[in-house]
Amino acid sequence: MTLHVLGHPLANKILTDLRDKNTPAARFRELGKQLTYFLLIEATRGLKTRLKNIKTPLADFDGTDLDQSVVVVPILRAGLLMLQPAIDILQDVSIGYIGMERDETTALARTYYCKLPTLKGKFAIVIDPMLATGHSAELALEAVIQQDPDNVVMVSMIASPEGIRHLENLFPDIPIYTAAVDERLDEHKFIFPGLGDFGDRAYDTN
Ligand code: URA
Repeated sequence: MTLHVLGHPLANKILTDLRDKNTPAARFRELGKQLTYFLLIEATRGLKTRLKNIKTPLADFDGTDLDQSVVVVPILRAGLLMLQPAIDILQDVSIGYIGMERDETTALARTYYCKLPTLKGKFAIVIDPMLATGHSAELALEAVIQQDPDNVVMVSMIASPEGIRHLENLFPDIPIYTAAVDERLDEHKFIFPGLGDFGDRAYDTN
């Protein structure tokens, strides 16, 4: 598995504001969308392309067209915030939804909803802002891989070392794109220092 950590000054500034507990929900949502653009631009570097000949006002030009369809799969609910920026930059994208619930005592995930488009031959991006235990990601990636996409990548804003190790053991070929790897999981399986509960902060719930 390859771990890609953005390390971009603008992305780090956005992530710091996301972490700040005084950032209100509306601003949090805006920052979350901005950070998603950075992550997705990196995560789609491996997209297959083909030559596209066009005419500029001055000359013929051998340009680029995409040669692979993209499917984005947000893990509900937190991953939903990353969906609109994905649609914005990927444009011709199909969308799958996977609903996961976390049992707060065991921290184990349970799938309550899964609706995926055709994935065969496509470039699949699973998005979940917080890669904590890696258990939700595991279930989502398993569901996606079963449909035989050509490429699968995992995209999270913050990852824990435990979550990374978990996915690394199960899916050594799937790259993870993140903006930060935090210290550890705390006793509630939250990422520490993290940013708290992403869904609660984005949607102003508790
Ligand atoms: N989900 C969150 O929203 N935050 C964490 O720290 C871990 C999982």
